[in-house]
Amino acid sequence: MDQKEMKELVGRTAVEKLVKSGMKLGLGTGSTAMPAVRHLGALLRDGVLKDIKAVPTSFQTTIECEKWGIPLFSLNSAEIGGELDLAIDGADEIDPKNYCTKGGGGALLVEKIVAYNAKRFAVVADETKVVDALGLVFPVPIEVIPEARMPIARELAKLGAEVTLREAVRKAGPVITEHANLLLDIRFKEKIDPAKLEAEIARIPGVVETGFFTGNLPIVFIGRSSGEVEIRE
Ligand code: A5P
Repeated sequence: MDQKEMKELVGRTAVEKLVKSGMKLGLGTGSTAMPAVRHLGALLRDGVLKDIKAVPTSFQTTIECEKWGIPLFSLNSAEIGGELDLAIDGADEIDPKNYCTKGGGGALLVEKIVAYNAKRFAVVADETKVVDALGLVFPVPIEVIPEARMPIARELAKLGAEVTLREAVRKAGPVITEHANLLLDIRFKEKIDPAKLEAEIARIPGVVETGFFTGNLPIVFIGRSSGEVEIRE
């Protein structure tokens, strides 16, 4: 299987194994979460699943849900009451403890709010996302208030990070997130403690959120090129 096929397989598998009618669901962002959203849409259309209430994590997810007629709510709406039964999302890297990094698509802020307010969090990923240590290869985004960009970059450098302001594609200047913030992508040369860094970076004034996800340990579905799905809890 190629990477696209692994993403399709793993997204569909997670939905089939975990989603039940009547659930309140958080729906993630990215090229692995989208097949899960589409499969959910198809199961609702065919009447296999009923009465799903979904909270999207980004514009991308909202648009895909709208295409499929998946009923959308805010985390704050009375029907959701601030808590989800399950959130399904992709990841950029996953380590042996099932700690993840996310935000390659820039949607980490709502992704984390949704994941940390779900009774169960599921991550779907192809096998290329599995690593021994986080943050050494794929950069971890830190969402920051624009005014605090420079001081935060200095603090991150003190923690040993290589810091890059994320630049937009087909628009001059930086990426502006869905909440009008900037993204500082950080990478490390030596092994780090992701849980410690998640807490430390969150304390820097002007940091809105980090792409380290160590707080609500997920069940991880890994798509293998052999066509198998490994489930890691
Ligand atoms: C979006 O901001 C991200 O957190 C994605 O969930 C993550 O980057 C994985 O994306 P892909 O499934 O597209 O690799």
